[in-house]
Amino acid sequence: MLKSPSSKYQRFDPVTLPNRRWPSQTIAKAPIWCSVDLRDGNQALAVPMNVSQKLDMFDALVKCGFKEIEVGFPSASNTEFSFNRRLIEENRIPDDVTIQCLVQAREDLIEKTIQSLIGAKKVIIHMYNSTSPAQRKYVFGKSKEEIIAVAVKGAQMIQDRLHRLTEGGTQVMLQYSPESFSATEVEFAKDISEAVMGVWKPTPQHKMILNLPDTVEVCMPNVYADQIEWICTNIQNRDSLIVSLHTHNDRGTGTAATELGLLAGADRVEGTLFGNGERTGNLDIVQVAMNLYMHGLDPQLDFSDMNGLIQMYERTTGMTVPPRQPYAGELVFTAFSGSHQDAIKKGLAGYEQHKSVWDVPYLTIDPNDIGREYREVIRVNSQSGKGGVAYLLESEFGIELPKDMQREFGPIANDIVDSLGREVSGAELKQMFWKEYIERETPFTLHHFHADGVDGVFTCRCSLVINGKERGITGQGNGPIAAFADALVQDAGAAPFEVTTYREQSLSSGTGASALAYIQIKTVAGKLVWGAGTDTNIELASIKAVLSAVNRAEF
Ligand code: KIV
Ligand code: ZN
Repeated sequence: MLKSPSSKYQRFDPVTLPNRRWPSQTIAKAPIWCSVDLRDGNQALAVPMNVSQKLDMFDALVKCGFKEIEVGFPSASNTEFSFNRRLIEENRIPDDVTIQCLVQAREDLIEKTIQSLIGAKKVIIHMYNSTSPAQRKYVFGKSKEEIIAVAVKGAQMIQDRLHRLTEGGTQVMLQYSPESFSATEVEFAKDISEAVMGVWKPTPQHKMILNLPDTVEVCMPNVYADQIEWICTNIQNRDSLIVSLHTHNDRGTGTAATELGLLAGADRVEGTLFGNGERTGNLDIVQVAMNLYMHGLDPQLDFSDMNGLIQMYERTTGMTVPPRQPYAGELVFTAFSGSHQDAIKKGLAGYEQHKSVWDVPYLTIDPNDIGREYREVIRVNSQSGKGGVAYLLESEFGIELPKDMQREFGPIANDIVDSLGREVSGAELKQMFWKEYIERETPFTLHHFHADGVDGVFTCRCSLVINGKERGITGQGNGPIAAFADALVQDAGAAPFEVTTYREQSLSSGTGASALAYIQIKTVAGKLVWGAGTDTNIELASIKAVLSAVNRAEF
């Protein structure tokens, strides 16, 4: 990189707009959405979609609720042309959906585009030509006047052929894009757009779409918003226009540019699912729609089956959705850090109680609303705290560790996860718990246990394997646990201890119910140690839990 980038790159000149209004506006309703997946998204694929993939995606876009869909560039290839014909001839376009086709301002291409649309119910013909100084100078070698003449001629060629569609009952809306708008002088963008309007003569009753593309994102989103407000304020007959935004993402702010563009007065948004498109992509339309949703506005698009949509997208485009893609990525409802996990757990419990406004920390929306599950919310890696460990054991297996035991087991699990150097599943955590507590059988292994009580005094008779040798032991106490503790200390040679906490729960598994008991003991040295045992018999589960604690304390 250059030490002094100013020798090669230049500042972007802001628009003069001293009384800009957009910073104090809010977005109060969803814009008109237009998906450009099948055109702008498709043209950026290493292997463009074939007709059946395009049909698959078209159906999915309709299902999401898109009412305007740019279906292609029919003059560009046979696939694109046949796709239009299939849609129209097989009656695949719902009555409330308008298909849009892109075309350059060239007669042969306009002719082919018109042919591809014959018989459709509602269409948008979208003409563009490029207007920025660099395009004028390097690509076309034309003056501003000559570039305007290209647009006017193209607009006229379309106008002259419209009757071929309208005579057959097709409703036609016209759209013009001064391509590379954001890199174009606003005054020139206004002049060329007004020249096209002069040909198409839109009215408030029959508007045209003026699409203002951020073809290459060259400025900060506030500057794009200024450009949009400047056009909305200065263009003639604003009320005869639907002002449309079409942002790309070269500086990583395509979403911000669109949102600020809406504040600045735009009515319509073009974009693609998950931001597929040239270079860094088009605007991710899912993001803008879900951003409205998380503020309580009906986006008029439905992403309830986000997983299904992702599968369709990956199947048809061959692209993948990155794990951290807002709203859609695999990891966006996952917390790795312990403090986040703890807060989410508490927030979810709180939300379950009041069930009104969603205010769960770290989760912008309820994952359920888009077909995701709470089970995905928490995973455990070496950064996770005891909260995450406890949450997974409870949510996946119903194991409700007592709070103090969580404090003991959390760091043990973390050390193991740390040494594995990767995220672990709930099943792996359960295995760790079993190994640490339930399967602790040395130095003492229980073979047989029996206890009887007479007048509140319990006597236990049991056999243990101690260091490989079987032995019978007996003891007495005011309950079976106390009698067993007495036998262990007095007869089996265990170090003295007292039982400080006892908890039990039932666990249901595929094969039936069993009990899980948790015991905390205190050694003579004052150390607190937990044990756990499981059995179909609750008394036996608690005896095993005592032995687990003693075995853990001994070693
Ligand atoms: O990015 C762009 O400018 C385009 C136009 C053709 C609208 O895709
Ligand atoms: Zn584009």
